[in-house]
Amino acid sequence: MAVITGAEIFIDGALQRLDVAFDEKIRAIGRNLEGEERIDCSGKIVLPGVIDVHVHVRDLEQSHKEDWASLGRAALSGGVTTVFAMPNTQPPLDSVERVRDYRRRAQASSLNAYVYGAITRENLQNLEELAPHVDAFKLYLGETTGQLVISDKKLHREIFKIIAQTEKILTVHAQRGGDPTDVTRHEADDILYVLDLAAAYETKLHLAHVTTQRAVEAILEAKKSKIDVSFETCPHYLYFTAKDREERGAWLKMNPPLATEEDREFLWWALGKGLIDIIATDHAPHTIEEKSVGYERAPAGVPGVEFLLPLLFDAVNADKISLARLVEVCCLNPAKRFGLPKGEIAVGLDADLVVVDPDIKKTIAREAVQSKCGWSPYEGLTLRGWPVMVVVRGRLQKKSSVRSSLK
Ligand code: DOR
Ligand code: ZN
Repeated sequence: MAVITGAEIFIDGALQRLDVAFDEKIRAIGRNLEGEERIDCSGKIVLPGVIDVHVHVRDLEQSHKEDWASLGRAALSGGVTTVFAMPNTQPPLDSVERVRDYRRRAQASSLNAYVYGAITRENLQNLEELAPHVDAFKLYLGETTGQLVISDKKLHREIFKIIAQTEKILTVHAQRGGDPTDVTRHEADDILYVLDLAAAYETKLHLAHVTTQRAVEAILEAKKSKIDVSFETCPHYLYFTAKDREERGAWLKMNPPLATEEDREFLWWALGKGLIDIIATDHAPHTIEEKSVGYERAPAGVPGVEFLLPLLFDAVNADKISLARLVEVCCLNPAKRFGLPKGEIAVGLDADLVVVDPDIKKTIAREAVQSKCGWSPYEGLTLRGWPVMVVVRGRLQKKSSVRSSLK
């Protein structure tokens, strides 16, 4: 058994000066706990490990962009201990065999890895068979990386019906593709269309990467009825707008595109009010070379998994949001929604922890990026509050820079 001592632990919605004892599960929380290994974390804050429900790990034929090993390094260095891997890989995760193989590959990462199943025209009849092997399903309604778009409305109805029967969560990329301004303008309509389908078939719906005030308001309205819906937004929609895209071009090209300054401000407001369920990164790595060919030709997507926690912890330090809110959208809510035995520091749950030094101030530099894609849209940003150690189901993943501070 290991014991973390001397730190402020986030328990029951607040920081408390207690010890935490754990093997692969959290075994005890209290004062003066005993254990063979004692880890002095004085001056640090301990949070539940971050759960990122939207990550493109790539691997397979696109392992030059990212693979499970590099994704693991990026995630752990940012305090993310659990990821949900998207199925728009090359080839896609559309069969039992491919999902099994992907899970095997995930072991190269030391992360808790959950895997999405792809929905294609070809595998519609096999979704029931695929269901026990996946952790959720993903449906693409708008054109983006991969060839998984389904635009036939009759098929949409069939899919919502089949997935409802599997009782899995259906995560939907609802936003159409095309001209960015157009996509932003129609986001709420596209989401209303999907909400209607979820209502009709009683499908458990999760809406990926929501960017606008109107869309959030439509979802909040739907929550008042019986629709079983949750949604996420991403750090890039909190930090950038369409104006930034005009300046930085392909480096801020992603689907759905960046929205307006009003939308960005609304998202911060909604986050503060507890109206946003989940923040996920939509970590979508493409290499520097691939991104360097001009806006039109460059692939859509930006990496983000390693800076999710630092970006939000900095917002806590700046009094933009509370620490409780951060833990809600990054740990508690994702765990609750996807039914994981984690997401909070409580006896009996998985020992997934992240130790944060709230005072470390660092500027994000390209050289320090762990993702294989080798760049970040947040380069140059100075943030206060960085993870110094993570625990994944009881296993310590120390960072070399940390050891000294842990004695
Ligand atoms: O910008 C995006 N990139 N949006 C998506 O939906 C897919 C992702 C990717 O896989 O590159
Ligand atoms: Zn995505």
